[in-house]
Amino acid sequence: LPKAVGAGKKVLITAGPTEEPIDPVRVLTNRSSGKMGYALAAAAAARGAEVTLVSGPVSLKVPDGVKAIKVKTAQDMFLAVTEHAKDNDIVIGCAAVSDYRVEKVSDQKIKKQDGIDELTLKLVKNPDIIATVGHMEHKRPFTVGFAAETNNIEHYAKDKIVKKNLDLIVLNDVSKQDIGFNSDFNAVTVFDKEGKVAAFPKMTKEVLSGVLMDLIFEMNKKA
Ligand code: PMT
Repeated sequence: LPKAVGAGKKVLITAGPTEEPIDPVRVLTNRSSGKMGYALAAAAAARGAEVTLVSGPVSLKVPDGVKAIKVKTAQDMFLAVTEHAKDNDIVIGCAAVSDYRVEKVSDQKIKKQDGIDELTLKLVKNPDIIATVGHMEHKRPFTVGFAAETNNIEHYAKDKIVKKNLDLIVLNDVSKQDIGFNSDFNAVTVFDKEGKVAAFPKMTKEVLSGVLMDLIFEMNKKA
């Protein structure tokens, strides 16, 4: 039998949304279901890799054979990923990380007040997890990001690959309702620093994850 493409490889994948607290009962979050990241974890494990999934709050079952670290906030995800990144050959950022968090989390439920019609929440920037991995100077893993864009998509994807120092970026157009966030389907274009590497039309996230992991293991071998 041929050796599995992922055998002997350690892969860390982030998945799902993050949840940034506002007060004890409210959060800032997004529409990521975790389906794409969990499917990638299953596909990597099926190819023989040792997989760590760093997951935001989702209602999915952890794939068999995958080690999961459950987190809520972007800061917690940052800590989990930066702790484990150096022990992995490949890190894939599929999570939809909140770019900003609430500066001062209220320790009591914020009340509706008579006569006050406007409320301002001050947000501060979260650390960029995949950019931190991409810029590691010691034991830097092969680093793959995703780009969820709604407009000018190729331009932003190319900009992110440079700024975050990624080896590959997987671009999905999230302005389309039938793919991307929360759908069972996705369609993606993959770029490296030189340009377009591959384009995969709409298919299930399970099938897409298989072809993406084959491509990622192949590109990692050449890198
Ligand atoms: O979970 P699903 O419902 O299946 O949907 C899948 C998906 C659409 C969420 C997924 O395919 C996807 O596109 N994930 C990335 C979403 C995103 O937040 O993209 P972005 O363009 O904002 O971020 C670019 C890259 O930087 C991503 O790899 C992201 O994980 C990473 N990032 C962003 C901000 C931050 N503070 N830290 C990060 O690591």
